[in-house]
Amino acid sequence: MKIDPKGTNSAEFYKLFSSVVVPRPIAWVSTISEDGIFNLAPFSFFGILSSNPALVYVSVGRKRGGQKKDTLANIEFSKDFVVNIVNEDLAEVMNLSSTEFTSEVDEFTETGLTSTKADVVASPMLAESPVNLECRLYNVMEFGELPRGSSVVIGEVVQVHIKDDLFADGGIHAPTLRALGRHSGNLYCRTTDLIEMERPSLP
Ligand SMILES: Cc1cc2nc3c(=O)[nH]c(=O)nc-3n(C[C@H](O)[C@H](O)[C@H](O)COP(=O)(O)O)c2cc1C
Repeated sequence: MKIDPKGTNSAEFYKLFSSVVVPRPIAWVSTISEDGIFNLAPFSFFGILSSNPALVYVSVGRKRGGQKKDTLANIEFSKDFVVNIVNEDLAEVMNLSSTEFTSEVDEFTETGLTSTKADVVASPMLAESPVNLECRLYNVMEFGELPRGSSVVIGEVVQVHIKDDLFADGGIHAPTLRALGRHSGNLYCRTTDLIEMERPSLP
């Protein structure tokens, strides 16, 4: 079977595409609006672009009516955001926060989660999250056409917060972190079934 993305209905292609590139990490993005309202929403079109400088990207689509999602509008206003990492314990409340609440709704209050002040940026951090990445807006790149286009937000990580019990050997202890992965559709995956492989080296 072969599929031409341009010859396929965009919603159908999204379904296919997002079930091919799996599992994906989830950026649970917290932001602040021009009116000072806190916002929280998950994004799985997310990844590392570079480690030096420390750059991450989050691809934000449009609301059903073609308007900007609150996350994008807030980032364009404050020029910053926080990526909060999702573990298994937070799965359901993360999903709840993906509801298209109106921009007047504080999604921390709505979901019963706790905001905490960031060190560097104006956006709030999620206290319950095991790792928070404070990001300063680096660039926004627009792709495609409305209403299905996306805005790829690139952020420079300016401060990393890690719960002390997770830090091991200069990294994060994966079985303790229990990060949640996004699979296809409504499916998610655990990151606790790990396999280890030494990198090959020439003799
Ligand atoms: C696990 C998960 C991943 C998601 N990934 C994305 C994504 O990568 N891009 C996107 O535009 N929306 C994504 N969404 C949908 C947004 O979370 C949803 O549209 C949310 O209401 C946006 O909120 P906002 O308007 O407060 O920014 C995802 C939802 C879930 C549950």
